[in-house]
Amino acid sequence: MKNIAEQITDIRKEWGNHLLILAHHYQRSSVVQHADESGDSLELARKATEYAEAERIVFCGVKFMAESADVLSADNQGVYMPETGAGCPMADMAIAEQMEKAIQSLEEVASGWRPIVYVNSSAEVKACCGKHAGSTCTSSNAKRVFKWALDKGDRILFLPDEHLGFNSAHDLGISDAEVAVYNPRKENGGLSADEMASAKVIVWKGFCIVHQAFTVASVEKVRKLLPEAKIIVHPESPKEVVRICDAHGSTAQIIDYVRNAPDGSTIVVGTELNLVQRLAERERGRVIVKALVPSVCANMAKTNEENLLHTLRNWPEHQKVVVSTDIAGDARAALETMLRL
Ligand code: 13P
Ligand code: SF4
Repeated sequence: MKNIAEQITDIRKEWGNHLLILAHHYQRSSVVQHADESGDSLELARKATEYAEAERIVFCGVKFMAESADVLSADNQGVYMPETGAGCPMADMAIAEQMEKAIQSLEEVASGWRPIVYVNSSAEVKACCGKHAGSTCTSSNAKRVFKWALDKGDRILFLPDEHLGFNSAHDLGISDAEVAVYNPRKENGGLSADEMASAKVIVWKGFCIVHQAFTVASVEKVRKLLPEAKIIVHPESPKEVVRICDAHGSTAQIIDYVRNAPDGSTIVVGTELNLVQRLAERERGRVIVKALVPSVCANMAKTNEENLLHTLRNWPEHQKVVVSTDIAGDARAALETMLRL
């Protein structure tokens, strides 16, 4: 009897170019080994548009990623998730009705708001963004998308990650005083008309639990124990942490940073543990890679070889991710603006 990995390999061979398996960098290595493409959110969104022959796309990641793949792929391509319960708590922190209400409140006090929505959001929130002529962004291109809006003379409403919002604004020289936090659980986001009118950027009060584990105290501890080490964190980490590290970047940018580090160096990485462990393994003997704090995304971990094989064998209808046509059009507009930029 062949083992699970061998069975997956056999099915992939049978399907050939008609099957595409995509895996996010935070997936387990046992899953990543079966992927045709692994990457960060931006790379995977692009890949979903590049394999015209693939009738079936299996997305090993979380729901918002599979939804984007469905929105961006052709009508004859079906997107499946091996574990449909793999969501993203941060994406759930913004709902489209709240976003619509926020835009209305902001427009009552000042004009020229441009919504920018992190891809870590529901298809409905992306559609609201598209409807208001906004763009999505990922952690790889947030700075570029912010610049696009600011160059037009617009103010930005960014959601749902407060930290990526602050960090991207800071990278572009916008001071914290010009950024306000909108709390969707409070009337008018908890902001006065003056606070809204004077803000250049408004960020949603949302966060990623995996990246909030990285604290100033954890960075200071590493500085003491390993003074020679370089520390790089993902920009979903709090701004106070990002600002005392040596570098910050998306998962793809972290991989490049480690790859380009001088031989013999030590790099401490603040992002999801699966990626950090894979980097440590890949670079063993050349550089030392350590986790700032061992922080795991429980949702990414829900996909494994067993449920991947089950999908490839049975193609269960309930695992097919379908974004309804009434929201797919506006969501696509927001995603395509990002891919064009
Ligand atoms: P990137 O893939 O853009 O680095 O994002 C990390 C993440 O949190 C995905 O859920
Ligand atoms: Fe969501 Fe954070 Fe997990 Fe990414 S790492 S899927 S943002 S919870």
